[in-house]
Amino acid sequence: QAADLSSAFNVPPEYVRRTPPYAKLIGNLQTVNQITNNTPLTLAEKILYSHLCNPEESLAKFNGSLSNIRGQEYLKLNPDRVAMQDASAQTALLQFMTCGMASTAVPGSIHCDHLIVGKEGADSDLTSSIATNKEVFDFLQSCGEKYGIQFWGPGSGIIHQIVLENFSVPGLMMLGTDSHTPNAGGLGAIAIGVGGADAVDGLTGTPWELKAPKILGVKLTGKLSGWSSPKDVITYLAGILTVRGGTGYIVEYFGEGVSSLSCTGMATICNMGAEIGATTSTFPYQDAHRRYLIQTNRAPIAEAATIANDQFDFLKADKGAEYDKVIEINLNDLEPHVNGPFTPDLSTPISKFGETAKNEGWPENVSAGLIGSCTNSSYQDMSRAVSIIRQAEKAGLKPKIPFYVTPGSEQIRATIERDGLIKTFENNGAIVLANACGPCIGQWDRSDVPKTSTDFNAIFTSFNRNFRARNDGNRNTMNFLTSPDMVTAMIYSGDMNYNPITDSIKLPNGESFKFEPPQGEELPDDGFIQGRAEFYPEADPKPKPDVKINVSPDSDRLQILEPFAPWSGEELSTNILLKVEGKCTTDHISAAGAWLKYKGHLENISYNTLIGAVNKETGEVNTAYDFDGKSYGIPELMTKWKTEGRPWNVVAEHNYGEGSAREHAALSPRFLGGSIILVKSFARIHETNLKKQGMLPLTFANEEDYDKLASGDLLTTVDLRDMVAKDGNNGGTLRMKVTPKDGSAEFEILCKHTMSKDQIDFFKAGSAINYIGNVKRE
Ligand code: F3S
Repeated sequence: QAADLSSAFNVPPEYVRRTPPYAKLIGNLQTVNQITNNTPLTLAEKILYSHLCNPEESLAKFNGSLSNIRGQEYLKLNPDRVAMQDASAQTALLQFMTCGMASTAVPGSIHCDHLIVGKEGADSDLTSSIATNKEVFDFLQSCGEKYGIQFWGPGSGIIHQIVLENFSVPGLMMLGTDSHTPNAGGLGAIAIGVGGADAVDGLTGTPWELKAPKILGVKLTGKLSGWSSPKDVITYLAGILTVRGGTGYIVEYFGEGVSSLSCTGMATICNMGAEIGATTSTFPYQDAHRRYLIQTNRAPIAEAATIANDQFDFLKADKGAEYDKVIEINLNDLEPHVNGPFTPDLSTPISKFGETAKNEGWPENVSAGLIGSCTNSSYQDMSRAVSIIRQAEKAGLKPKIPFYVTPGSEQIRATIERDGLIKTFENNGAIVLANACGPCIGQWDRSDVPKTSTDFNAIFTSFNRNFRARNDGNRNTMNFLTSPDMVTAMIYSGDMNYNPITDSIKLPNGESFKFEPPQGEELPDDGFIQGRAEFYPEADPKPKPDVKINVSPDSDRLQILEPFAPWSGEELSTNILLKVEGKCTTDHISAAGAWLKYKGHLENISYNTLIGAVNKETGEVNTAYDFDGKSYGIPELMTKWKTEGRPWNVVAEHNYGEGSAREHAALSPRFLGGSIILVKSFARIHETNLKKQGMLPLTFANEEDYDKLASGDLLTTVDLRDMVAKDGNNGGTLRMKVTPKDGSAEFEILCKHTMSKDQIDFFKAGSAINYIGNVKRE
């Protein structure tokens, strides 16, 4: 049967590394079906379980029901590929280097996108960003050459767009060091955002561990039309589920409405699954996937996927598969939504937006519009935006506010240039930025509104994330997330009360003008073109062991990592350095923007630790108090306590670490002497990242205990040694003795943990990397 399977998939050699090993995966799934007595599986489970290292071990507790696995058991998985963006790749590769391997175990790619500033336009921004970041790009390039990892240099595009165009394939399982890695789910992959240490698991071929997710089914009925777009599916869903609603779930879309979506539209929806905290999102195999694979020069892969789907039923859910929850969305009724400010789940339909803005006291005018990013820079997005601009141009309308366009890749940029879209953008006042993240990640050197402005200003973007200070470094910029269509229409009005579906705009000649709904093309009629050859790496680079990787000891950008100390074997005794109030995202814990340049230098970047956090006891930002009552910046007090040999912990509220896979949110606290983070609840990726760095993430068994704790209190674990001796037991409780700083009586609280055996090994070794390095060297 194995031979039958392999002969069914005859992929030409040059496509093999980019095609999931379908024969092996389907064979593995047959073993899974035997273990589960052919219990119907969701698509997400089929892809995940077909990547299990050892199905018998991971599914040992099946016992007749998938509910004994979902949300309960840890899966050990073999991902097919790893993708890394320039900011997080530095840490991933610095860690990979310590393992002593000559090449990576699976194909990998590095993408230079986060470190490019958006200011004046693509050419000058790229030149200056390359000059500023040369040392880092050279480091990444030399790592790529040495270990045989594809290096996509600055200007080539945004990681998720390049992955979609080149590497994502139905049934693939990949890891990416960026929280919007799930974008690849738009092409039927299971793609999960992780930190650098998890990426090292993938790169070294170490089984990667994931708590089996629950499955949230989203049934789409009807058909999108008019002004409604795929972005509205996810902005609407975010409003229902909130930023925590997807935690612990994979979101799987199904229903007849799926077939009306483009592949890139599905990618937009999966991309922003990160905003509801989902592990990832995915779609069943569609003809739109086949069309996209063919248009992106992967016809043989499309053929293999079609066989995997049609002959082996691999790329769709089994009939009768059960979801843990189902939400239904009728696309016929879906209205465009606008989400924000400051949180992606505050969702307002466009018909209510003006009124809501007035009631909430949001600014009356919009100050800038931005489209593109990894979320919305497809050919379809760009052609719909241009259809709006051309209507305005014809009517004699000029934009009222600055408008920026960020193409997702060189392929998109070159294709829209060939088709005259860039010309239309530029003739109508748009600034086309480099193929990079730019303003989406704080790399927006904005001149019209100063960073320090204390007045609120509103921007409309087609991006995915809108935490404070994310785009222009200004905490008072309110970023409203919506479709590129809504952003583009808005630049002609600038009035927060404007609804392009119903409202007209006054023309210079006094007449009124109303837009028709946008029209776009799913894919370019004349196919994609690649553009400038210098942006494309060698297709299948071989490792070159002689390449030297230079890290200067004087560098302020790169620093060789020193291993963290292993666990002492004793109970942990740590003081509360800070009690955090409310939302504490990875942007609060490890700010981006100007700090991004220190990603490869742990000591330097750690001076940003928790500078965005609010002190529960005083309401101040970036302020903590020492025992003598003296106030410090948070990282300064951490450094002081580290120097004094005083281990510390941080106490916080819900969904701590929400937002991104940003690994420094775990590395920096560990580097500065933190050992425990005790919260009401964690965002999944951040909790895992803490464990990988040898920290102990705990949650309150009783949330009210948060109120009983104060900064300076001493927390001492009572039964940590017992928990370690039991290898974590895949989660349980941990007792904690509290010695209040104010001298009042000691008391005990109960905490919960989710540590597995492997994670206990990381904890004991001091970090996952220490542990993997020990194993690889043995
Ligand atoms: Fe880049 Fe923003 Fe996407 S930072 S990867 S464009 S979310």
